[in-house]
Amino acid sequence: MRAGEKIKTVRISIVGFGHVGSGVAEVVMRKHDEILRKHGLDLRIVGIADLKGAIIDEGGLSRDEIARFGADGALLDMSSLELIREIEHEVMVEATPTNVTNGEPGLTHIITALNSNRHVVTSNKGPLALEYRKLMELAERKGRELRFEATVGGAMPLISLIRENLAGNGITAIRGILNGTCNYILTRMTNENLPYEHVLREAQEIGIAESDPSKDVEGIDTAVKLVILANSVFGMDATYRDVRVQGITEITPDALKLARDAGYAIKLIGDVDIDGRLEVAPRLVPVSDPLNVGGTLNVATIRADLAGDITVIGKGAGPIEAASAILSDIIAIYS
Ligand SMILES: NC(=O)c1ccc[n+]([C@@H]2O[C@H](COP(=O)([O-])OP(=O)(O)OC[C@H]3O[C@@H](n4cnc5c(N)ncnc54)[C@H](OP(=O)(O)O)[C@@H]3O)[C@@H](O)[C@H]2O)c1
Repeated sequence: MRAGEKIKTVRISIVGFGHVGSGVAEVVMRKHDEILRKHGLDLRIVGIADLKGAIIDEGGLSRDEIARFGADGALLDMSSLELIREIEHEVMVEATPTNVTNGEPGLTHIITALNSNRHVVTSNKGPLALEYRKLMELAERKGRELRFEATVGGAMPLISLIRENLAGNGITAIRGILNGTCNYILTRMTNENLPYEHVLREAQEIGIAESDPSKDVEGIDTAVKLVILANSVFGMDATYRDVRVQGITEITPDALKLARDAGYAIKLIGDVDIDGRLEVAPRLVPVSDPLNVGGTLNVATIRADLAGDITVIGKGAGPIEAASAILSDIIAIYS
């Protein structure tokens, strides 16, 4: 913060208080003083809502009040939409479950927040995969920002890296691993010569795969993220139904071994380019390629006309990792 600059109070609501929502509350509390010092922003969480109810404090909720959310039955009988509309605040963080059938409940939350003159920062992919253009037009009409770094690659900076650090470059393609669950399964199948079902079961036991893993292993999650990149970076008007998708369920240890013997890894790769290519499929990746990362890591190579290829690697999921992207979006609104 420069001398003479005024402190700005930024009141935040969090809608959807699961892993990501509570991660956002945690990092806002943990980083409050540092952000005040460095950026002159006094971040305060003034309302939290999920299906159970809401808590509000227009002066800013305390760490204790947030920690007790839902635990002591002291929730207000106030819906998320009422909170978004009625509580005075600047930024609504949307962290409800992704739904790629109709985008709800996130779509209505985002529209309501923009119509109520709030900025929106979301980790929820569904609304953007279905109604990207409509939402961006609404944000522009309202003079508000809609930011969504957490929707693609979790903590890995991709959208803001392209927009801000690669400004002036033409981006011709983005290619990468955008789903940590699939990467974990393929990495273990390769390294330990294990069948798909075995690794999937163990991944479910340790919480890396969900009990219904279909969105991840069938490539739908990667497709949805690709659509967000297609629309935000390449100006397309795509929905996830436009993506050719093949998942990892048919990959065998034999196929992985054959590939490895020839100097390749098999990875679930999302591809989007300036000519409108939108594909998710298992691909051969040379073992020396920067895209050949293991475990739950995500990675993306951005092809830029001036900068050439830039590859970013990072943690694609996790509450604090997603909250990192959300926090950087909130700060960016005021930079
Ligand atoms: N987890 C990650 O690492 C990660 C990373 C990047 C992006 N994301 C995305 O971020 C979003 C949140 O993920 P998560 O892992 O935090 O999910 P989660 O743990 O399942 O939490 C979802 C929260 O939303 C609430 N909710 C559901 N329907 C609601 C409604 N109609 N109104 C208000 N609240 C509602 C749930 O409330 P109840 O508990 O009362 O049902 C719960 O508090 C998802 O869209 C996900 O795809 C997640």
